Amino acid sequence: MNIRLRSKLPHVGTTIFTVMSRMASEHNAINLSQGYPDFDGPAPLKEALCRYINDGYNQYSPLAGILKLREQVAVKVKAFYNHNACPEENITVVPGATEAIFCAIQASVHPGDEVIVFDPAYDSYEPSIQLCGAKAIHIPLLPPDFKTDWQRVSDSITAKTRMIIINNPHNPTGTVWSEDDIKQLSRIIENTDILLLSDEVYEHLVYDNRPHLSILSFPELAKRAFVVSSFGKTYHVTGWKTGYCIAPQPLTSEFRKAHQFVSFVGVTPVQHALADFMEQYPEHCLELPHFYQEKRDLFVSKIASSKFRVSASSGTYFQLADYREISDLPDTAFVEYLTRTVGVAAIPISVFYETPPDSHLIRFCFCKENSTLMKAAEKLCAI
Ligand SMILES: Cc1ncc(COP(=O)(O)O)c(C=O)c1O
Repeated sequence: MNIRLRSKLPHVGTTIFTVMSRMASEHNAINLSQGYPDFDGPAPLKEALCRYINDGYNQYSPLAGILKLREQVAVKVKAFYNHNACPEENITVVPGATEAIFCAIQASVHPGDEVIVFDPAYDSYEPSIQLCGAKAIHIPLLPPDFKTDWQRVSDSITAKTRMIIINNPHNPTGTVWSEDDIKQLSRIIENTDILLLSDEVYEHLVYDNRPHLSILSFPELAKRAFVVSSFGKTYHVTGWKTGYCIAPQPLTSEFRKAHQFVSFVGVTPVQHALADFMEQYPEHCLELPHFYQEKRDLFVSKIASSKFRVSASSGTYFQLADYREISDLPDTAFVEYLTRTVGVAAIPISVFYETPPDSHLIRFCFCKENSTLMKAAEKLCAI
């Protein structure tokens, strides 16, 4: 007898990041698609990891993560956002922000609930919602400025709305929230019991001297929020898959129940190395905006003479580019052409929408060596 499995995620295929990275390597193209650096994390961080492995820190850590790392996270969020997080009650270290997102949703969303997501949306949100038997309500952020339509958010709230997922700074558009966005969100959810899941993995990548408006800085919002970040993004070690979630105690308690049965714990020596590095190099986070802004400016200036139209990204390490003057192809076909024929891989943004707008935009990733960015720009200018 043939065993048949009725898929719980029938519409999910291989992620676009995997598809484009594979295509980039098949065609030997410069990979500006998937969001990971082509340079290494800081030497003292790597040395600390080797030291901890050799010194025998290789067994399970506590469920919530090693205390030393949670203490460092508490110090950081106090310094950056004036938020008091208790390492014991509010902070959980997990293997990657993706797991934190999954656990926050599993812990709080029930069958039949609705969860508001903003498109283009990071691709893990919707499957995590569907696995709860809940429904994602998509609100599009539209070009050219991708501003949130707060009236539409307000109109989308129903008795079933359990959670709103926000992502600031935003992947893939590179937009960041203003004080007004925070005010509008606060007003809309004020007299409700709607939870927030705030994906802030690019919290330290905000440019042009703008501040990052973390949900943690706003007590009325923080009291109902899971705030998620990623050490992978902040310390250039995406392959270490380590992130954290900060939430009020009752939310953390439910979050940890889910985390307990997803991975149980994060990787022990990685946590020790990160804790040491955070303690010894607190300036790392302060230097990140300048570090990535230089890369953004280099990439944008080098493709200024191309036929792509760009408006410099305000945050994240992604840069959207409009290819309308080059081609009428849909973005999925255009990135294929770009990878195969031009030798630069990018990500189409239509795949992150439920209903894609009529646009000709693709996403380039600029967390790359300057030499990589210059080589890619040269190819893009030759089109
Ligand atoms: C918006 C967003 N959220 C979450 C993640 C996942 O982070 P991690 O690698 O720590 O799981 C990413 C990674 O690309 C991202 O872009």
